[in-house]
Amino acid sequence: MKKISVSILASKEPTRDIQRINVSTADFIHVDVGDGKFVENKHNPYRLLDRLSKKYNKRLDVHLMELKPKKNIHKYATLNTEYITIHVELGDVSSYIDQIKKYGIKVGLAINPDTDISTLKPYLDRIDLILIMSVYPGYGGQKFIPETTKRILKIKKMIVSEKRNIKITIDGGVNDETSKELDFADILVSGSYALAGDVTERVEILRNNADKLKKKDRED
Ligand code: DX5
Ligand code: ZN
Repeated sequence: MKKISVSILASKEPTRDIQRINVSTADFIHVDVGDGKFVENKHNPYRLLDRLSKKYNKRLDVHLMELKPKKNIHKYATLNTEYITIHVELGDVSSYIDQIKKYGIKVGLAINPDTDISTLKPYLDRIDLILIMSVYPGYGGQKFIPETTKRILKIKKMIVSEKRNIKITIDGGVNDETSKELDFADILVSGSYALAGDVTERVEILRNNADKLKKKDRED
């Protein structure tokens, strides 16, 4: 069954939305960090999440969209964090992977829409997750890039041929329509869609859409 990670990036009332996610059937809270360099916007909800840490029990799925993630890897490792994901486009990816592992946290590697898939290859033996960007990183509320579905398939094939147990996350523009295309994903991130109504209802629509597709494929 697919897991759903709800993003608070575009939230105007993050305290309330964290609470809404916490009481929903979502699996993770997706936390985006932007440095104003790797991505245009600057965003870091660390202090808020730290302050509220006793008020939520969902695990965090942290997505660091920054050129130098060292400090934030250290900070987010102190919270209830399942995954810390950095971008494959950075220099020094290896040392950041080591740093995340040192904290005993699962490692994710994110890849932008225009980045060659082969750049992931050198790290496949040391990562737990690949986060495929289905929009250009930075902001919530963007439109899903349709070519992503082909990239998912290629990345899935690469993981299988290398015999790795690596999860796939899709991030950006996931909603009740685009989720119908997202076979082979293990985790779907959704911000603007998931928070625009009853969170559990929307989370289950995303989960069922994607799972139904898998079932149909098996029957064909
Ligand atoms: C985009 C972020 C996403 C974003 C998803 O750069 O990485 O996590 O918050 O939001 P929606 O679901 O609105 O595309
Ligand atoms: Zn994200």
